[in-house]
Amino acid sequence: MKSQRHLFNIPKDQAYFNTAYFGCLLNESVNAAAYGTNLKAQPWNIHMSDFFTEADIARQLFAQLVNTDENNIALIPSASYGFATAAKNLNLNSNDSIMVLSEQFPSNYYIWEQIAIKSNATLSVVPRPEDDDWTSNILNTIDDNVKIISLPNNHWTDGGYIDLEKISKNISNSDIALLIDGTQSVGALPLDIENIKPDFLVVSGYKWLLGPYNLGLCYIDPKYHDGDPLEYWWGHKEGSENPASLINYPSEFLPGARRFDYGHKGNFHLLPPLIKSLEQLLKWGVDEIYQYTSEVNNKIIENLSDVGISTIDDKYRAGHYLGIRFNDRIPSDFTEYLTDNNVHVSVRGTNTVRVTPHLWINDNDIDKFVNVVKKYFKK
Ligand SMILES: Cc1ncc(COP(=O)(O)O)c(C=O)c1O
Repeated sequence: MKSQRHLFNIPKDQAYFNTAYFGCLLNESVNAAAYGTNLKAQPWNIHMSDFFTEADIARQLFAQLVNTDENNIALIPSASYGFATAAKNLNLNSNDSIMVLSEQFPSNYYIWEQIAIKSNATLSVVPRPEDDDWTSNILNTIDDNVKIISLPNNHWTDGGYIDLEKISKNISNSDIALLIDGTQSVGALPLDIENIKPDFLVVSGYKWLLGPYNLGLCYIDPKYHDGDPLEYWWGHKEGSENPASLINYPSEFLPGARRFDYGHKGNFHLLPPLIKSLEQLLKWGVDEIYQYTSEVNNKIIENLSDVGISTIDDKYRAGHYLGIRFNDRIPSDFTEYLTDNNVHVSVRGTNTVRVTPHLWINDNDIDKFVNVVKKYFKK
């Protein structure tokens, strides 16, 4: 695979290694978003079917990306919404515990803190492993009280890898619900629902799905499909695409996970750009994206081996996601220096700089990144 920069609107002098913050919209997505916005300028062109059709196209494309049936996919506005939906459909009692990782992203933490308080359950926080082997730490922390495990495929601060297949196999004969936050992995790190069989997979769409802000997708196992949605929007019921039927309050939900869609799921501003990005991701292939981004990160590691920084060992890190570690706190002017030189990364935690490339990165960007970092250390 070659760099796909020509499909994005990224000026030559900007080296953007920050997909974990925001993925760039494709040019095609920008055009599709303009089309959606223009529709609202002439609302007589918006038809009842528009509230349903594109939502189902996005559902189908995402289902293909993670290898499941489109009926298992709900549209969500944010990861926090997906986890709130999961929480509403899982029961706990006071002997139970919920497992999360140390320094896990807040949208997959606050909800469990609340649920633990309300149900008198325990929040079990897996400590950060000294050797970066999260999977072993997680497996060693699971006990008979754990009823929910909610974690990512890689840690959002530094790319530390979690082997979900191993964890899923380990708990397959238990009543533990497995919830995954795929926001920092799905679209770049291959994930197959059939292999992992999670209860919920929550993905905010604006990072590795290259979608717009405020739209995401959530896989929900069929065993929850009779459950309670967070909200009761008019368009969630059978027959609701016929406006005349609305005053009769149809009672049957649309099939599968559609009852869990957020209100305004037929968002004609946001769905067209998301559809374009999902189509493109499928065309490229997630395996290819993973390989390309891993190679970019490997080149960076090789070229920076002499400046006194370290990274997680390959076997414990997701390839698309590089955390560059400083021995001490990151110097306060480091990211500003990079930004001033048009190199974009982000800092999460106290001593890790996140480097998260995508297919827009080319060799010039890699050289620029390496040279600017080296210049910083020489100054
Ligand atoms: C691991 C992870 N999950 C989720 C999100 C976004 O959550 P939300 O969609 O609730 O804003 C982020 C954003 O940085 C993240 O890093």
